[in-house]
Amino acid sequence: MIGLKHKVEKSFTILVSLLAAAVMIAGFSGPASPAVSSVVCDDCHTMHASQEGQLPVGFVQDGSETAHAHLTLASCLGCHGINGSTVGGAPNIFSRMPETMTAAGTFASIVVDRAKNDYRKVHNVRDITTWTNEEQEQLYTTPGIDTSGGRYLDVEGASELYCAGNRGCHGRHDESCDTSNKGIKGFHHGGYEGYRYLQFYNGSSHTPIKGKGSPDWEYEGADDYNHNVYYAMDGMSATTNDSISAFCALCHGDLHGDDADEVRSGGNWIRHPTENLLSAAGFTTDSVIVDVMNNPFGFYGTYYHDVYTHNMNNYTTEGARVVCVSCHRAHGTENHDILRFDYGTQKAGSNVTTGCLGCHVGQRGES
Ligand code: HEC
Ligand code: HEC
Ligand code: HEC
Ligand code: HEC
Ligand code: HEC
Repeated sequence: MIGLKHKVEKSFTILVSLLAAAVMIAGFSGPASPAVSSVVCDDCHTMHASQEGQLPVGFVQDGSETAHAHLTLASCLGCHGINGSTVGGAPNIFSRMPETMTAAGTFASIVVDRAKNDYRKVHNVRDITTWTNEEQEQLYTTPGIDTSGGRYLDVEGASELYCAGNRGCHGRHDESCDTSNKGIKGFHHGGYEGYRYLQFYNGSSHTPIKGKGSPDWEYEGADDYNHNVYYAMDGMSATTNDSISAFCALCHGDLHGDDADEVRSGGNWIRHPTENLLSAAGFTTDSVIVDVMNNPFGFYGTYYHDVYTHNMNNYTTEGARVVCVSCHRAHGTENHDILRFDYGTQKAGSNVTTGCLGCHVGQRGES
């Protein structure tokens, strides 16, 4: 059955495709990354943070600031939903309901802090100062930090983790980008490339991360007509550093396996692989569950070029690869370790077909 939501999304997608076609016909070459458009400056900016001597209409005071960096009406967190509403059509990263979350999950403490003694459900970014309870708990060492090469960001732990910049995930990572605001500058207007404003950094140069984003960031969850398409590299030893998993390895290098023996040793996996083909592993690809919500894949080469965010035509297990976000989300979830699913309910021999068992056919029970 095709629900109303699907129909609405389908017609939305058709509209988007028509608009995209119109843009192409007009010969316009826009920025490769989504940039803000069709919104007037003053939906987002205020020149003096003052109107008739008062704070301007629409100004969001989300902290002690009476004026925000880059002359905006709200801070980074204010625009992105910390007070419940967003500015300029920004994705809300503080959704309180699993059903209204976007692809990265949520930073809302009511979700990630539901179990009082558990703080391991979220990236504890320091920009969020309103957090209470254990989501403030800090992991003093970044798990899987690669200390061998010095190629990666040297974020010691939660005490140093920010939304953007050289101690953060989004934006540029130069040493001079020592705040989230400095790191993000230029991205919203398409000045830089990168899936979800993400770039890899090797200490001297940046590499935009590839990916095809759902136009509404998978609002209300991914489905066949609306899902992100993740990019994977051509195997673990590839050095292009342009995949979503390479991006995670910026801080969690040891878990990605770009140095010999980190992930595979003596012909055995010693950590879970990423970037590798499901089909090359001899998986019964017919039985692997294609599920963009619970165990999405990454793609490389022509497989990547042929998959789209608005249908499932080429989204198959052929060419599918494991990515960090096959199991994890990026911001926070209601599950331990920012997982997409509750690991505690994945039982060998059961007929569950999501999460681990979405891919690992051999561990499912007879159906
Ligand atoms: C939907 C929100 C939104 C709208 C509309 C918008 N901006 Fe921005 N703009 C931002 C945000 C957020 C930043 C700061 C972060 C960044 O640079 O990515 C920014 C940064 C800037 C910057 C500094 C960074 C850069 O790219 O040079 C300039 C200049 C700017 N805006 C000018 C404008 C002008 C002029 C307009 C209207 C034509 C406009 N903006 C409309 C959100 C918006
Ligand atoms: C003035 C409001 C405003 C501020 C301030 C702002 N954003 Fe945004 N942001 C937006 C809007 C609006 C969009 C949606 C742009 C679009 O339609 O693609 C957006 C989109 C994004 C995206 C998604 C890009 C994509 O691929 O679709 C990211 C990531 C992001 N912002 C990060 C940040 C970070 C990090 C900061 C602060 C350091 C920040 N933003 C500050 C309004 C804002
Ligand atoms: C800019 C550095 C940075 C990047 C990039 C990064 N992380 Fe992290 N991550 C950290 C730090 C620091 C911690 C430990 C503190 C915390 O939990 O917030 C952490 C913790 C985690 C945890 C454990 C959560 C917990 O609290 O126990 C998981 C899971 C995780 N990261 C997954 C990912 C994935 C998946 C990606 C890519 C989508 C990623 N990380 C990208 C810095 C980063
Ligand atoms: C096959 C699913 C899967 C994939 C793929 C995966 N993870 Fe995990 N990850 C887990 C599970 C499950 C845990 C919980 C701890 C455990 O069981 O080992 C975890 C835990 C973590 C932790 C916390 C470790 C700690 O010490 O607390 C980090 C950080 C992390 N993953 C990052 C990553 C990164 C980065 C990638 C990609 C390079 C990745 N994961 C790929 C399933 C996965
Ligand atoms: C996106 C698909 C996918 C998901 C989801 C996934 N795996 Fe895997 N897993 C793989 C692939 C592909 C391999 C490599 C198999 C090979 O090379 O034989 C692998 C390898 C493994 C191995 C090593 C097997 C060996 O032969 O040494 C274990 C154990 C494992 N996965 C457990 C898990 C668990 C537990 C989860 C859930 C937390 C999980 N996997 C989720 C695709 C997946």
